Amino acid sequence: MEPFKIKAVEPIPFVSRAEREAALVEAGYNLFNIPSELITVDLLTDSGTSAMSDRQWAALMMGDESYAGSRNYFRFEQTVQQITGYKHVIPMHQGRVAENLLFSNCVRPGDHVPNNIHFDTTKANVEHNGGVAVDCVIDDAYDPTAEVAFKGNMDLDKLDQVLAKVGRERIPLVLLTITNNSGGGQPVSLDNAEQVSSWCRRHRIPFFYDACRFAENAYFCKMRSGLDEDIPTIARRFFDLADGCTMSAKKDGLVNMGGFVALNDQEMTEKVTNMLILIEGFPTYGGLAGRDLEAMAQGLEEVLDERYLAHRIGQVRDFGQGLCDAGVPILLPVGGHAVYLDARRFLPHIPQELFPAQALTCALYLEGGIRGVEIGGLMFGSAGKWPELELVRLAVPRRVYTKSHLDYVVATSKSLFEKRDSIHGLKITYEAPVLRHFTARLEPVN
Ligand code: F0G
Repeated sequence: MEPFKIKAVEPIPFVSRAEREAALVEAGYNLFNIPSELITVDLLTDSGTSAMSDRQWAALMMGDESYAGSRNYFRFEQTVQQITGYKHVIPMHQGRVAENLLFSNCVRPGDHVPNNIHFDTTKANVEHNGGVAVDCVIDDAYDPTAEVAFKGNMDLDKLDQVLAKVGRERIPLVLLTITNNSGGGQPVSLDNAEQVSSWCRRHRIPFFYDACRFAENAYFCKMRSGLDEDIPTIARRFFDLADGCTMSAKKDGLVNMGGFVALNDQEMTEKVTNMLILIEGFPTYGGLAGRDLEAMAQGLEEVLDERYLAHRIGQVRDFGQGLCDAGVPILLPVGGHAVYLDARRFLPHIPQELFPAQALTCALYLEGGIRGVEIGGLMFGSAGKWPELELVRLAVPRRVYTKSHLDYVVATSKSLFEKRDSIHGLKITYEAPVLRHFTARLEPVN
C-alpha cells in the first residue's frame, strides 16, 4: 500500500470524446500541444510532476532568499555531498542546463560521447557542441521481449569500438544513465558500473552519471542483485565509481523544478560555475529560489526511503503486469518510472515511416484522455534513419496517481488494443531542426 496518506487533492478533468477529437486536430496530433485541462490521466512524464510531501511544503516556508550565501544552499550542498560524496555541488534549475554547462566546457566538435542511451536533451546538448552522441547499451536493450535484469547496462565492447575509432583524446567523458530512460527505464547493475569505471580509469577518461533516477536504480540493484546494504549505501557505491554526475531533481529529487552538477574536479567546477553565473545565476542559487533548494534537499532524503521505493517500483510493476494480463504488448521487464507500450507489436500494420508510436499515443488520448509520450521515430528518427524501438512511454508521476487511475489506463489500453486495426499512421506537416517531437505537427494518413 501507499506509504503515505493524502492531504491535498486536485480534481482531474473529464473530457468528452468530441472534445478530445477536436483537441487532437487543434494540436496537430502532437500531445505536447494539448492543454493539461483536456487530459484525464497525464502520464506524459515523471519529471517535475511529483507530489511533494508535507515536509517539503514546510521546507518552502524555510526559504532564505538572500542573493548570496542562502542557508538553504548549504543544506542542499551538504545533502548532495552526503549522498554522492562529490566535493562540489552546483545548483541549476533543471537537468538539461547541467548537460549544457558540463558539455559546453568539455565537448569539442568531432568529439564522441558514449552513454548507454542518451536521453533526447542529452543527445541534443552533445550535438549542440559539435559532438557525436554514441549509444553503447547492450544489444538486449533493443529487444522489447528480452527479460534481462539489467537491460540498461553498457556494452564494454562497444566502448572499445568507439575508442578504437576516435582515440581517447576525442572522448571527453563517458556517461551512464541510471536508470536508462530511453531504453525503458531499465537499471544498470553495480558490476557494470564498476566495469565502466575501470575502463574509464584505464583510459584516463572522465566518467559521469546522468543520475536523474539514481534511487530507483539503487532499489533495482538491491532487489535483483540481492545486495544487503541499504539504499543510500548502494547509491553511494555507484557514485564512488565516477567523477561526477548531472542530475535533474525533477525525477528522484521529488521536486517540480531543480537540478545540479556534482563533481570532484576543481578546474571543471570553476568553468561550469563561471558559465552558471552568466546563464543561471549566482552559485548559491543557480536559477532557483532558496526555498526550492530546501525542498530539493528534503526530496533527495525522502527518495532514499526503501518503503517509498518499494511502493514506487511496485506500483509501476503492477501497472505493467495489468497490461500484460490484458494482452497489451509492452517492453519487458517493466522499468522503474514508466511502462512502455511496444508500438511495433501493437500496430504491426503501420510502417515506421508513418510513426506507429505517435499514432498510438494519439489513439490512447482519443480513447480515454490519457497522455503518454512517443519514444520512437518522431523523437529519434530522421529521413532514412530510424531508431530500433517504437515505444509509447506511460510515465508514472511520483506519489500522484493511485491504483484505480492506473487500472483505468489498463482498461482503456485493452479496449484500444481490441480495435487496433482501425488506427492509422501519421505524416509530419511541420518540424523544427532540433528536438522536433516537442513542436512537430502531424496529420493522419489513410
Ligand atoms: N536525462 C534524463 C535521463 C532524463 O530523463 C531527462 C529528462 C533529462 C536528462 C533532462 O532533465 O528535463 O530536468 O532538463 N527527462 C524528462 C522525461 C523530461 O520526461 O523523461 P530536465
